[in-house]
Amino acid sequence: MDDEMNFGSGDAVVVKRRGRLRLPQGLRWNLPFYLFSRFFKPGNPILLFEHLRRYGRAAHYRLLWNDIVLLHDPEDIREVLVDKANVFVKERTQRRMKILLGEGLITADGESHKRHRRIAAPAFHRQRIQAYAGTIVELAGKRCAGWQGGGRVDVAAEMMGLALEITARTLFDTAVTPEIQAVNDETNAVMEIYNTLIALPRAEWMLAAHLPLPTLMRFRRSKRRLDAVVDQMIADKQREMEARQRRGEQIGGDVLSMLMAARDDGAEASRGTKLNSRELRDEVLTIFLAGYETVANALTWAWKLVSEHPEVEARLAAEVEAVLGTRAATLEDLPQLKYTEMVVAEAMRLYPPAWAMGRQATEEVEIGPYRLPKGCFVFFSQYIVHRDARYFPRPEVFDPERFAQEAKGQRPKFAYFPFGGGGRQCIGESFAWMEAVLVMATVIQRWRMRLEPGQRIEVQPKITLRPAGAVWMRLEERYAGADTEINEEQEART
Ligand code: HEM
Repeated sequence: MDDEMNFGSGDAVVVKRRGRLRLPQGLRWNLPFYLFSRFFKPGNPILLFEHLRRYGRAAHYRLLWNDIVLLHDPEDIREVLVDKANVFVKERTQRRMKILLGEGLITADGESHKRHRRIAAPAFHRQRIQAYAGTIVELAGKRCAGWQGGGRVDVAAEMMGLALEITARTLFDTAVTPEIQAVNDETNAVMEIYNTLIALPRAEWMLAAHLPLPTLMRFRRSKRRLDAVVDQMIADKQREMEARQRRGEQIGGDVLSMLMAARDDGAEASRGTKLNSRELRDEVLTIFLAGYETVANALTWAWKLVSEHPEVEARLAAEVEAVLGTRAATLEDLPQLKYTEMVVAEAMRLYPPAWAMGRQATEEVEIGPYRLPKGCFVFFSQYIVHRDARYFPRPEVFDPERFAQEAKGQRPKFAYFPFGGGGRQCIGESFAWMEAVLVMATVIQRWRMRLEPGQRIEVQPKITLRPAGAVWMRLEERYAGADTEINEEQEART
């Protein structure tokens, strides 16, 4: 039975009643039949999400016996992530990532998540991560110094390579060694088969039972290799820390050293505990996976948009010229690189690296005008919400001015949430902003990039929102190069 109801805001909302429940309008057919009937392109769930936007504030559908609700309203999203976060856990596909990531920050729920978060927090404290600014600028400068004027680069591959180097140095304090490369290759290999794996009913059980299916065998091989490499890196770090201790030196400033030294300062039961070796391995893999592809994608999309908008590019270059001239950027320049930050923000509005998030209700729960059943899956897509014309007029237009201070204040918080929100908000958010802005400034200082004509750059919504292939840019040199010696001097002073 359908009902029209009024809920405070004055907007009439039509709900479907099922017993005590009030569900949003939506697909009448079960999703697999619906998809079949519409011949949706498989592999691009954004098409389905865009289609469901027509139901207004939220949409409901069933996938086999599961209720799924897609929320579009910032206030409803806030309720799930902040006000009622305690009655939600991560949705099933993320929980299933435990087969790869074990019990790390992304997969843990409840008390276990809180403990991991308390232990990891100091490593991501704003003051702590600021120490990485010099490394970021140095690595970005080196990478783009290798480019040739008049030549071309695949900016997607370049940004991925750069973000990997930055992660290796800041997370482990090493270069991209064969071990880091192995972690990268094996996680990529696992991600390729991941969708098949999570679609298998009882995949965890099948893995544990050592069933000889090719996908499972491939996964087990990659996972074994990953665990061995990360365990070795932790053991090496342990030796390094002991040697430092013997010499009376402080522990290293990399994230792994911090995680190894940190103790829980929380609730009585777990106070003083450290991450054990297995938890450490899970956390290292989690942060590795969460931390570099996201930033690389944000930067790639930003370059694509900037190269298509010469007026934005000119203003960006003018800001960098005025703030930096020819010297290399430092941490202290960040507050002045306002427009650069606005460009990154607007790029993440149109192409949010984390393009959708989900939770599952552990009990019957009211969200906005709806009453959802226990077990209901609730999704919200940054890709869809960031293109809502109520908050971003002419949403398809790339316009960094939307992120000028005054404009930002006029929108509800969850109209723009590239880093999620509430108690599980991205722990690496400050790091990501710093990295993206410093890399943009360093590259634009030296290079003008022009998208090679004739490319069709499509989005590929995997775990992150990647471009479907290479993104070729033609390079024009602005000037011979940022002054790295000055930078080294400045580094020595700070
Ligand atoms: C542009 C870059 C990034 C974006 C768009 C992004 C986005 C997100 C989002 C949306 C979440 C919340 C997921 C959820 O609640 O379901 C998240 C969580 C997380 N992110 Fe990021 N992230 C970025 C960069 C980073 C970096 C640089 C790191 C670490 C070095 C990182 C580490 C994490 C971790 C560990 C979590 C789990 C936090 C928790 O549940 O307590 N992320 N990220």
